[in-house]
Amino acid sequence: MDARDREKADAAARAVAEVRSGMLVGLGTGTTAAHVVRALGARVRDEGLRVRTVATSLRTERLAIEEGLDLLDFSALASVDIAIDGADEIDPQRRAIKGGGGALFREKVVAASAARMIAVVDSSKLVEKLGRFPLPIEVVPFATTFVRERVRALGVEPVLRPAFTTDQGNVVFDLPFGAIDDPPALAERLRAIPGVLEHGLFLDEIDEVIAGHEFS
Ligand code: 5RP
Repeated sequence: MDARDREKADAAARAVAEVRSGMLVGLGTGTTAAHVVRALGARVRDEGLRVRTVATSLRTERLAIEEGLDLLDFSALASVDIAIDGADEIDPQRRAIKGGGGALFREKVVAASAARMIAVVDSSKLVEKLGRFPLPIEVVPFATTFVRERVRALGVEPVLRPAFTTDQGNVVFDLPFGAIDDPPALAERLRAIPGVLEHGLFLDEIDEVIAGHEFS
Protein backbone atom coordinates (compact mmCIF):
# COMPACT_ATOMS: atom_id res chain seq x y z
CA MET A 1 0.00 0.00 0.00
CA ASP A 2 1.45 3.38 -0.93
CA ALA A 3 0.95 6.56 1.11
CA ARG A 4 -2.14 7.67 -0.81
CA ASP A 5 -3.73 4.26 -0.48
CA ARG A 6 -3.09 4.27 3.28
CA GLU A 7 -4.94 7.59 3.48
CA LYS A 8 -7.86 6.11 1.53
CA ALA A 9 -7.97 3.10 3.83
CA ASP A 10 -7.91 5.37 6.90
CA ALA A 11 -10.77 7.53 5.58
CA ALA A 12 -12.77 4.42 4.69
CA ALA A 13 -12.29 2.87 8.13
CA ARG A 14 -13.38 6.08 9.89
CA ALA A 15 -16.53 6.32 7.75
CA VAL A 16 -17.40 2.66 8.23
CA ALA A 17 -17.12 3.20 12.00
CA GLU A 18 -20.25 5.39 11.64
CA VAL A 19 -22.36 2.48 10.38
CA ARG A 20 -24.76 0.92 12.89
CA SER A 21 -26.65 -2.38 12.86
CA GLY A 22 -29.95 -2.16 11.01
CA MET A 23 -28.73 0.43 8.51
CA LEU A 24 -29.14 0.27 4.75
CA VAL A 25 -25.78 1.37 3.35
CA GLY A 26 -25.05 2.80 -0.11
CA LEU A 27 -21.68 1.61 -1.37
CA GLY A 28 -19.73 3.83 -3.76
CA THR A 29 -17.33 2.93 -6.55
CA GLY A 30 -13.56 3.25 -6.94
CA THR A 31 -10.45 2.38 -5.01
CA THR A 32 -11.49 4.28 -1.85
CA ALA A 33 -14.99 2.82 -1.97
CA ALA A 34 -13.40 -0.63 -2.29
CA HIS A 35 -11.68 0.00 1.06
CA VAL A 36 -15.14 0.87 2.44
CA VAL A 37 -16.63 -2.39 1.20
CA ARG A 38 -13.77 -4.42 2.66
CA ALA A 39 -13.90 -2.57 6.01
CA LEU A 40 -17.67 -3.10 6.20
CA GLY A 41 -17.25 -6.78 5.35
CA ALA A 42 -14.71 -7.07 8.17
CA ARG A 43 -17.12 -5.49 10.67
CA VAL A 44 -19.91 -7.85 9.59
CA ARG A 45 -17.66 -10.87 10.05
CA ASP A 46 -15.81 -9.74 13.19
CA GLU A 47 -18.51 -7.87 15.12
CA GLY A 48 -21.70 -9.43 13.82
CA LEU A 49 -22.81 -6.04 12.45
CA ARG A 50 -26.14 -6.48 10.64
CA VAL A 51 -26.47 -4.27 7.57
CA ARG A 52 -28.02 -4.38 4.15
CA THR A 53 -26.29 -2.67 1.24
CA VAL A 54 -26.82 -1.36 -2.28
CA ALA A 55 -24.03 -0.92 -4.81
CA THR A 56 -23.41 1.95 -7.23
CA SER A 57 -21.75 -0.25 -9.88
CA LEU A 58 -21.44 -3.82 -11.03
CA ARG A 59 -17.79 -3.70 -9.87
CA THR A 60 -18.82 -2.80 -6.34
CA GLU A 61 -21.62 -5.35 -6.46
CA ARG A 62 -19.07 -8.12 -7.18
CA LEU A 63 -16.81 -6.97 -4.34
CA ALA A 64 -19.75 -6.74 -1.91
CA ILE A 65 -20.72 -10.31 -2.77
CA GLU A 66 -17.11 -11.46 -2.24
CA GLU A 67 -17.20 -9.75 1.17
CA GLY A 68 -20.40 -11.60 2.04
CA LEU A 69 -22.49 -8.43 2.35
CA ASP A 70 -26.27 -8.58 2.09
CA LEU A 71 -26.93 -6.82 -1.23
CA LEU A 72 -30.29 -5.37 -2.31
CA ASP A 73 -31.46 -4.14 -5.71
CA PHE A 74 -31.73 -0.36 -5.50
CA SER A 75 -34.50 -0.26 -8.13
CA ALA A 76 -36.92 -1.42 -5.41
CA LEU A 77 -35.79 1.24 -2.90
CA ALA A 78 -36.26 4.96 -2.42
CA SER A 79 -33.63 5.79 0.17
CA VAL A 80 -30.62 4.57 2.10
CA ASP A 81 -29.59 5.49 5.64
CA ILE A 82 -25.99 6.26 4.82
CA ALA A 83 -23.93 6.40 1.62
CA ILE A 84 -20.14 6.28 1.65
CA ASP A 85 -18.27 7.03 -1.55
CA GLY A 86 -15.01 8.45 -2.87
CA ALA A 87 -14.56 11.57 -4.99
CA ASP A 88 -12.13 12.98 -7.51
CA GLU A 89 -12.10 16.51 -6.05
CA ILE A 90 -13.84 18.24 -3.14
CA ASP A 91 -13.87 21.97 -2.40
CA PRO A 92 -14.27 23.63 1.04
CA GLN A 93 -18.07 23.84 0.51
CA ARG A 94 -18.28 20.03 0.17
CA ARG A 95 -18.94 20.32 -3.56
CA ALA A 96 -17.32 17.54 -5.54
CA ILE A 97 -16.39 16.22 -8.95
CA LYS A 98 -17.09 12.51 -9.22
CA GLY A 99 -17.15 10.00 -12.04
CA GLY A 100 -13.48 9.21 -12.52
CA GLY A 101 -14.55 5.58 -12.34
CA GLY A 102 -17.50 6.18 -14.65
CA ALA A 103 -20.18 5.35 -12.09
CA LEU A 104 -21.45 8.90 -11.60
CA PHE A 105 -25.07 8.23 -12.52
CA ARG A 106 -25.74 5.48 -9.97
CA GLU A 107 -23.50 7.25 -7.46
CA LYS A 108 -25.59 10.41 -7.76
CA VAL A 109 -28.90 8.59 -7.41
CA VAL A 110 -27.74 6.75 -4.29
CA ALA A 111 -26.11 9.89 -2.82
CA ALA A 112 -29.31 11.88 -3.41
CA SER A 113 -31.33 9.17 -1.67
CA ALA A 114 -29.07 9.06 1.39
CA ALA A 115 -30.09 10.47 4.75
CA ARG A 116 -26.37 11.00 5.31
CA MET A 117 -23.70 11.01 2.62
CA ILE A 118 -20.04 10.75 3.61
CA ALA A 119 -17.31 11.38 1.04
CA VAL A 120 -14.06 9.56 1.78
CA VAL A 121 -10.89 10.88 0.17
CA ASP A 122 -7.14 11.04 0.42
CA SER A 123 -5.74 14.51 1.00
CA SER A 124 -4.80 15.02 -2.68
CA LYS A 125 -8.53 15.32 -3.50
CA LEU A 126 -9.05 18.45 -1.40
CA VAL A 127 -9.00 21.53 -3.65
CA GLU A 128 -9.80 25.22 -3.27
CA LYS A 129 -11.64 25.32 -6.58
CA LEU A 130 -13.17 22.49 -8.63
CA GLY A 131 -12.05 21.78 -12.18
CA ARG A 132 -8.47 20.60 -12.19
CA PHE A 133 -9.94 17.10 -12.61
CA PRO A 134 -11.77 16.80 -15.98
CA LEU A 135 -15.52 16.80 -15.33
CA PRO A 136 -17.16 13.54 -16.51
CA ILE A 137 -20.61 13.48 -18.12
CA GLU A 138 -22.56 10.33 -18.99
CA VAL A 139 -24.14 10.54 -22.43
CA VAL A 140 -26.67 8.31 -24.18
CA PRO A 141 -24.86 6.95 -27.30
CA PHE A 142 -27.59 8.15 -29.70
CA ALA A 143 -26.73 11.74 -28.75
CA THR A 144 -22.92 11.46 -28.79
CA THR A 145 -22.19 13.87 -31.65
CA PHE A 146 -24.99 16.26 -30.73
CA VAL A 147 -23.79 16.50 -27.14
CA ARG A 148 -20.16 16.94 -28.24
CA GLU A 149 -21.18 20.00 -30.27
CA ARG A 150 -23.32 21.47 -27.48
CA VAL A 151 -20.49 21.01 -24.99
CA ARG A 152 -17.98 22.63 -27.37
CA ALA A 153 -20.23 25.69 -27.35
CA LEU A 154 -19.53 25.91 -23.58
CA GLY A 155 -15.87 26.51 -24.43
CA VAL A 156 -14.33 23.12 -23.76
CA GLU A 157 -13.21 20.25 -25.98
CA PRO A 158 -14.90 17.06 -24.73
CA VAL A 159 -12.74 13.93 -24.62
CA LEU A 160 -14.61 10.68 -25.27
CA ARG A 161 -13.43 8.08 -22.75
CA PRO A 162 -11.92 5.38 -24.97
CA ALA A 163 -13.19 1.79 -24.90
CA PHE A 164 -15.54 2.52 -22.00
CA THR A 165 -19.26 2.11 -21.49
CA THR A 166 -21.11 2.64 -18.25
CA ASP A 167 -23.24 0.06 -16.43
CA GLN A 168 -26.20 1.63 -18.28
CA GLY A 169 -24.48 1.09 -21.68
CA ASN A 170 -23.71 4.78 -22.15
CA VAL A 171 -20.53 6.68 -23.05
CA VAL A 172 -18.57 9.17 -20.95
CA PHE A 173 -17.04 12.46 -22.03
CA ASP A 174 -14.39 14.05 -19.81
CA LEU A 175 -14.52 17.85 -19.89
CA PRO A 176 -11.20 19.56 -19.05
CA PHE A 177 -12.62 22.91 -17.96
CA GLY A 178 -9.82 23.95 -15.65
CA ALA A 179 -10.98 26.06 -12.69
CA ILE A 180 -14.79 26.18 -12.61
CA ASP A 181 -15.89 29.64 -11.43
CA ASP A 182 -19.59 28.89 -11.02
CA PRO A 183 -20.31 25.15 -10.50
CA PRO A 184 -24.13 25.54 -10.10
CA ALA A 185 -24.38 27.51 -13.37
CA LEU A 186 -22.29 24.92 -15.20
CA ALA A 187 -24.40 22.09 -13.74
CA GLU A 188 -27.54 23.81 -15.05
CA ARG A 189 -26.06 24.22 -18.55
CA LEU A 190 -25.02 20.58 -18.73
CA ARG A 191 -28.34 19.36 -17.40
CA ALA A 192 -30.12 21.36 -20.11
CA ILE A 193 -28.45 19.41 -22.94
CA PRO A 194 -30.71 16.57 -24.14
CA GLY A 195 -28.71 13.33 -24.16
CA VAL A 196 -26.66 14.15 -21.06
CA LEU A 197 -27.89 11.56 -18.57
CA GLU A 198 -25.87 12.99 -15.67
CA HIS A 199 -22.87 15.16 -14.89
CA GLY A 200 -20.24 14.58 -12.23
CA LEU A 201 -20.81 17.78 -10.24
CA PHE A 202 -22.13 16.81 -6.80
CA LEU A 203 -23.16 20.16 -5.38
CA ASP A 204 -25.66 19.38 -2.60
CA GLU A 205 -25.38 15.67 -1.91
CA ILE A 206 -22.36 15.45 0.41
CA ASP A 207 -23.00 16.00 4.12
CA GLU A 208 -19.56 15.20 5.46
CA VAL A 209 -16.02 14.76 4.16
CA ILE A 210 -13.55 12.39 5.79
CA ALA A 211 -10.03 12.94 4.51
CA GLY A 212 -7.56 10.22 5.39
CA HIS A 213 -4.40 10.56 7.41
CA GLU A 214 -1.34 8.56 6.65
CA PHE A 215 -0.04 6.38 9.44
CA SER A 216 3.44 4.99 8.90
C1 5RP B 1 -16.26 6.71 -9.48
C2 5RP B 1 -15.98 7.85 -8.60
C3 5RP B 1 -14.91 7.66 -7.57
O1 5RP B 1 -15.45 7.89 -6.33
C4 5RP B 1 -13.78 8.64 -7.83
O2 5RP B 1 -13.34 8.45 -9.16
C5 5RP B 1 -12.64 8.42 -6.85
O3 5RP B 1 -12.03 7.19 -7.09
P1 5RP B 1 -10.86 6.64 -6.21
O4 5RP B 1 -11.41 6.38 -4.86
O5 5RP B 1 -10.42 5.38 -6.93
O6 5RP B 1 -9.76 7.68 -6.19
O7 5RP B 1 -16.56 8.90 -8.67
O8 5RP B 1 -17.20 7.04 -10.47
